[in-house]
Amino acid sequence: MIQIWSRKTPLALVTLPFLVLIVSSVFYNKSSLRVFNPYKAPPLRRRPKTTYVEPNREPTSDRGVLDRFSRCNSTKEYSGRSTRFGGDGGGGESGRRDSGSEECDVTSGKWVLDNVTYPLYEESECPYMSDQLACHTHGRDDIRYQHWRWQPHRCDLQRWNTSEMWEKLRNKRLMFVGDSLNRGQWISMLCLLQSAAAKDKRSITPNAPLTIFRAEEYNATIEFLWVPLLVESNSDDPVNHRLAERIIRPDSIRTHALKWEQADILVFNTYLWWRETTVKLLWSDDEEGECEELDGMDAMELAMETWAHWVMTRLDPSKRVFFVTMSPTHQLSEDWKPESQGNCYGENEPIKSESHWGSGSELPAMRMVERVLGRLGPRVSAINITQLSEYRKDGHPSIYRKFWEPLSPEQLANPASFSDCIHWCLPGVSDVWNQLLFHLL
Ligand SMILES: *[C@@H]1O[C@H](CO)[C@@H](O)[C@H](O)[C@H]1NC(C)=O
Ligand SMILES: *[C@@H]1O[C@H](CO)[C@@H](O)[C@H](O)[C@H]1NC(C)=O
Ligand SMILES: *[C@@H]1O[C@H](CO)[C@@H](O)[C@H](O)[C@H]1NC(C)=O
Ligand SMILES: *[C@@H]1O[C@H](CO)[C@@H](O)[C@H](O)[C@H]1NC(C)=O
Ligand SMILES: *[C@@H]1O[C@H](CO)[C@@H](O)[C@H](O)[C@H]1NC(C)=O
Ligand SMILES: *[C@@H]1O[C@H](CO)[C@@H](O)[C@H](O)[C@H]1NC(C)=O
Repeated sequence: MIQIWSRKTPLALVTLPFLVLIVSSVFYNKSSLRVFNPYKAPPLRRRPKTTYVEPNREPTSDRGVLDRFSRCNSTKEYSGRSTRFGGDGGGGESGRRDSGSEECDVTSGKWVLDNVTYPLYEESECPYMSDQLACHTHGRDDIRYQHWRWQPHRCDLQRWNTSEMWEKLRNKRLMFVGDSLNRGQWISMLCLLQSAAAKDKRSITPNAPLTIFRAEEYNATIEFLWVPLLVESNSDDPVNHRLAERIIRPDSIRTHALKWEQADILVFNTYLWWRETTVKLLWSDDEEGECEELDGMDAMELAMETWAHWVMTRLDPSKRVFFVTMSPTHQLSEDWKPESQGNCYGENEPIKSESHWGSGSELPAMRMVERVLGRLGPRVSAINITQLSEYRKDGHPSIYRKFWEPLSPEQLANPASFSDCIHWCLPGVSDVWNQLLFHLL
């Protein structure tokens, strides 16, 4: 019967009922949703229930250190495990001692040209200068970026004084812990201080995860520990790290903490390495190499909580701890010049518009940092560099630095395409971050 039917019936007649059925069922589905279901469709992925994992437990087995060869054997969705601990730091939000304190809100102010006091040192006189940051040496002729002074609206920043800073550091270890922005601040500190340290009584160790500058006269060290993601990760080697896949141990900061726990003054940062990426989580109790995947900013929160837990429960309370807020980038000129398509390339003036905030600085991340620091109370001071650095679209190396990879003719024809709008020329913006540290110490 089917054979006869299919042979004799025109195709349209067969398909028409089906078409009607499909169309009407779509219509029915749509209208039924509209009429009978006043609620929005549920989200495709519901957030899993949060469970608490106590971070920084002593390892029960030797689970090895993550490095660039580490791989996940498999990856599944985020399980909802969190490292956030319940306690208040004692001081709470009100007890905070930071750069936004009542005495002087240094985050609100403006840049004024001051070619008498700035720069605080000469680029060519700093033996610790990095090729990544020495912009004048690499061809930047307009050096106005070196001459700006940060002027808070309602008070003055303490004037930078090299010998006073050395006195604050006498018999102490100052350690910067973080990523390349933090390393820039460390180099700035060396450049600011080196002129007052006798050449034959100072030394620096080779570049390593921990690099140490020593000044014998003051019995002091100024150190930098490369830890871009705060917690243990596959990116903890300053040179050989894999960018393609970020794997962290969200609940462990131990191997890093062993290096920093003896320092007297600690300056942490982290932010850029979490942006625009997902991160693989390898929890400490994992035996099979099974990772969970999480959005970078959520993973940053896990790392911050693990760090906060360490500061709260393990770190000797006599240590001074600072956290440097996010360093802004200037990768999109439309942030300050609507409808333009460039970036920081060619910029030679700070942004004048009060409280300018670029798209590179994610507000939810700032709120999260505030929350974590708020719970730590006066234990940790924020060095709040974000707003003042937002104005400095002129402060980046752009094309005036050493690039490690050779540039192609296409790149050279379009300088904006390879401009560095992330790091900061020295002398420059990072010197002022150190001035804030000096102000707070
Ligand atoms: C109509 O909705 C039902 C379930 O609600 C679904 O199975 C069916 O595929 C839908 N039809 C169309 C054409 O979308
Ligand atoms: C400093 O700036 C003033 C005013 O902008 C200018 O007249 C003067 O020549 C500058 N001095 C130096 C040493 O660049
Ligand atoms: C720096 O501080 C020292 C000691 O406190 C003081 O003697 C000196 O005058 C200061 N230098 C400047 C330029 O203010
Ligand atoms: C040097 O500093 C360390 C602390 O970093 C201290 O233990 C030691 O006593 C100091 N040495 C001298 C000679 O003051
Ligand atoms: C992945 O699985 C292999 C074989 O079972 C194992 O040797 C390795 O340690 C696992 N990787 C991780 C990160 O646990
Ligand atoms: C830093 O300052 C900005 C405004 O200048 C403010 O919105 C933010 O909350 C401050 N962050 C912290 C951690 O204090």
